[in-house]
Amino acid sequence: MALEITRCVTDDDYEAWRQVRIAVLPYERTVTVAELHEADSPDRLMVLAREDGVVVGHGLSDRSDSAGGGSVIPRVLPEHRRRGIGTALLEHLVEHVRTLGVPTLRAGADDDASLAFAHRFGFAEVNREVEQTFHLDGPVDVTPTPDGIEVVTAQERPGLWEASYERFGLEAIAGLSVDTPLDVSPENWVREWLGDPMFLALADGEVVGCAGLGLDPDHPTRAEHLLTAVRSDWRGRGLAIHLKLRTLAWAVDHGLTEVYTWTQDGNAAMRALNTRLGYATTRVGIQLARPLDPA
Ligand SMILES: CC(C)(COP(=O)(O)OP(=O)(O)OC[C@H]1O[C@@H](n2cnc3c(N)ncnc32)[C@H](O)[C@@H]1OP(=O)(O)O)[C@@H](O)C(=O)NCCC(=O)NCCS
Repeated sequence: MALEITRCVTDDDYEAWRQVRIAVLPYERTVTVAELHEADSPDRLMVLAREDGVVVGHGLSDRSDSAGGGSVIPRVLPEHRRRGIGTALLEHLVEHVRTLGVPTLRAGADDDASLAFAHRFGFAEVNREVEQTFHLDGPVDVTPTPDGIEVVTAQERPGLWEASYERFGLEAIAGLSVDTPLDVSPENWVREWLGDPMFLALADGEVVGCAGLGLDPDHPTRAEHLLTAVRSDWRGRGLAIHLKLRTLAWAVDHGLTEVYTWTQDGNAAMRALNTRLGYATTRVGIQLARPLDPA
């Protein structure tokens, strides 16, 4: 059977791309077609792999948030694996990264088969993320708002999130426990890092903390926690817990039954906070890297 790898162009292509992700990662939120369009850029390549017109896999390649990196994400539907489709997709994506002029390939795997595939192509582990899940089965007691803090949502105060990039966002991004510094532009801060809802802690009108959710239209009863962060001068006053409990209370009020969060393995403080709140550790994701052209 002839394998065909073609770029996603139409909304139908984008929807077919989404369906592969949903089939391969049913436990994760998949971005909507509208969100995929918002992130359209010449740097990003999305492809579909078809055999005799039937979609068997997909791929995505883009400039990575990790400085100097280009991400490659091949995915193959389970019933079509071990026939070289993943290899063909990976080669296609690597050629795209070559056009971006970055030296390092970045990938991820959260199951043994994908890890074996990645090792086969020279990728090595550079970091780990842990998924923690909380089942909501009753009301949430929110701790009192710490003194000097007002909590609002980014949605009710347009412009605050955009304004927070310099004095809050850059420190929050730099504080993440990553192997390579992240290079996040102000546009990317607004497009990729803002939750809906996103609770913001304000001190004298300035953002000093945040915690938010990414809702999942494909699974309306679950959501992913997005960035939880507190600026260093406001730490140690229970603000992170307060903000996180606000998101959980919001989730209960809106009929959600499950929330999950991915945290870098090295971020012991956040993982301990989640465990204390009652989250169970549910999955480990391995982040991988390789020189574009291995020696
Ligand atoms: C990773 C993935 C894309 C591989 O797709 P695939 O079409 O099965 O891969 P290929 O058939 O091209 O495999 C190439 C080689 O990788 C290795 N490999 C792939 N799957 C493996 C497995 N389950 N166990 C051991 N080795 C494996 C083998 O060396 C294989 O060669 P072989 O079949 O001749 O032994 C697929 O498992 C997948 O979609 N995983 C989930 C998404 C993901 O994590 N993608 C990112 C990976 S970096």
